[in-house]
Amino acid sequence: MTASSRKSFSTRAVHAGERLPKGSYTPVVTPIYPSVGYIYESMDELDGVFAGTQPGYVYPRYGSPTVAAFEAAIADLEGGEAAQAFASGMAAIHVALLAAGVRLGVTVAAALDVYGATYALIQRLLTGLGARAVWVDASDLDAVERTLAESRPAVLLAETISNPLVKVAGIPSLAVLAHQYGAQFLVDNTFASPYLLNPLALGADYVIHSATKYIGGHGDVMAGVVVTSTENRLKMNELNKLVGSVLGPFDAWLALRGVKTLPLRMRQQCANAAEVAAWLSQQPGIQRVNYPGLSGHPQHALAAELFGDKGFGGMLSFEIAGADQVTAFRFMEALQLCQAATTLGDIYTLALHPATSSHRSLTPAERQRVGISDGLVRLSAGIESAGDIIADLEQALCSISKASA
Ligand SMILES: Cc1ncc(COP(=O)(O)O)c(C=O)c1O
Repeated sequence: MTASSRKSFSTRAVHAGERLPKGSYTPVVTPIYPSVGYIYESMDELDGVFAGTQPGYVYPRYGSPTVAAFEAAIADLEGGEAAQAFASGMAAIHVALLAAGVRLGVTVAAALDVYGATYALIQRLLTGLGARAVWVDASDLDAVERTLAESRPAVLLAETISNPLVKVAGIPSLAVLAHQYGAQFLVDNTFASPYLLNPLALGADYVIHSATKYIGGHGDVMAGVVVTSTENRLKMNELNKLVGSVLGPFDAWLALRGVKTLPLRMRQQCANAAEVAAWLSQQPGIQRVNYPGLSGHPQHALAAELFGDKGFGGMLSFEIAGADQVTAFRFMEALQLCQAATTLGDIYTLALHPATSSHRSLTPAERQRVGISDGLVRLSAGIESAGDIIADLEQALCSISKASA
């Protein structure tokens, strides 16, 4: 454990990964190193860096200082040995699956309601290359155990809070089950962020983030990161030298800057989401609200146990009563403050129609199996005032009920 990891989460969010150069002066903020090449005093030194027997950098596809600072910060906040950054969350998931041994003839077990592109990656791309995929409701531990016993996968993948149905995964129980049946446990912790939960401490082997979301936090950077053991990180680094999905230094710098305010943003987003969810659940025009903070949510008690008093996350989803795609689109278009943009975790409140965006790559039958209807809207609470967000949702709901009257 480093000296910085003993400090509080908020302090580490601000300081972890900072002040890289050591010399007669130290910059307060990590500089951006755009250099592609690195020069050493001797070829022996360069050879040592290539061999990994000496610290340093040779080429950005292998690693670079600003990216390393971002990796150090996330490894610290997740409480892991090491992190590998990527150009996107999808690249992070892909390379983590490869590092965990997914290949021809190997089975991947995954939670049924993962992000649509994750589903497509496993169900279409990886099975097309000869891997096998099995899907299971991760909130049903008996079903998970049956699946693991029957299919003996190399990997079990789940999202801490699922996209877009915000189901909460029992990370400690899933880790025990995965290991009992010889699978490595990969957790996509994007929706929870390291602020709400550190899955490695609960038995996960790889923790994955789309850093495009809460970690970056401002809607201005695309990045991914995986936190794991030093040994697994080395495997991912070797793979990424070949895959080449490298995070650039400018993007790493933006992501690292985002990390500093993660606890502040998350506190506000959790509070806003809770207030909005409570309001929505009182509206006659809303059929169902999915938010782990609501006492009626099937994993409310589990979420309280996992996240403690930090909150229940900034993500929620809801079904507009009797809405088809056209009505859901009219609702999205009527929003004025909330942005109908295809992302989440930003300082802005964002609304998304999963059936036609995040889960567009699923067939209608696949969406039905997962539980994503045409009237489902996903909301990512921003840091604005909850009252203003609610007022915007209210006027948008009013406008669709007027249109249908
Ligand atoms: C839960 C989750 N995981 C992974 C991803 C993929 O991340 P990226 O868009 O950065 O590739 C997303 C994107 O929305 C996501 O919601």
